[in-house]
Amino acid sequence: NWVGELIYEGKAKRVYKVNDELLIMEFKDEVTAFDGARKEHAPGKGRLAAAQTVFFMQLLGKYGIRNHLVDWDGDRKILVKSLRMIPIEVIVRNYAYGSFLKRMPLVKPLTKFRKPLVEFHLKSDELHDPLITTDDIIEAGLVNYGQLNEIINTALRVNSILSEFMASRGLTLVDFKLEFGFDKSGNIVLADEISGDTMRILINGRHLDKELFRKGASALDLVRAYEEMNRLLNIP
Ligand code: C5P
Repeated sequence: NWVGELIYEGKAKRVYKVNDELLIMEFKDEVTAFDGARKEHAPGKGRLAAAQTVFFMQLLGKYGIRNHLVDWDGDRKILVKSLRMIPIEVIVRNYAYGSFLKRMPLVKPLTKFRKPLVEFHLKSDELHDPLITTDDIIEAGLVNYGQLNEIINTALRVNSILSEFMASRGLTLVDFKLEFGFDKSGNIVLADEISGDTMRILINGRHLDKELFRKGASALDLVRAYEEMNRLLNIP
């Protein structure tokens, strides 16, 4: 029974302002792909993605990774710290897939990288989230050099923690996306969501993530895959 004023509605989430410190993130029962060009109702998905986000944020918290999670209503809403968001998507890749293959077709699909790749995209719907360089980020004044290093190191630690955790359950973490923001004290804090919508996870070559929907599966099949992921990872 948290209350807040709706301040943002995206394709899969709504954000409400509770006060200066807190926001509610509500995960919708919707799935979209291709910049919203494909969209379907996905009953049950909101709760599953919220549960995944809560689980992974708590897991990372145990390893000392500061993140925005405060509380969960047990359903589709989480209470999070209000941050000044950095408008970039940080992508970590363990295997060649997705937009990496589009821009680098010389590498065979699903080749394991010698070391995880970290890349940055500007969050911009009009520009379709273009790939940007670290120099671009510094020149635009989004963060300073030390902060950028902290973001890269945190993203790589998140990757080690999540990859190992998944591997111990027979899953392969192909790649994922993170977002960060600044809290009131100027600390860099991991934010947004970590779910099947923002990762690629394989079990015996089969996706348990949104790639299923991108490849044409129904919203119902996607919800079943998220249920399977939660079962395999003991996510409530
Ligand atoms: O499409 P691409 O290969 O760049 O995606 C890399 C990873 O980042 C995938 O796990 C994808 O789900 C995630 N991603 C995301 N939000 C975006 C773009 C990519 O969560 N806007």
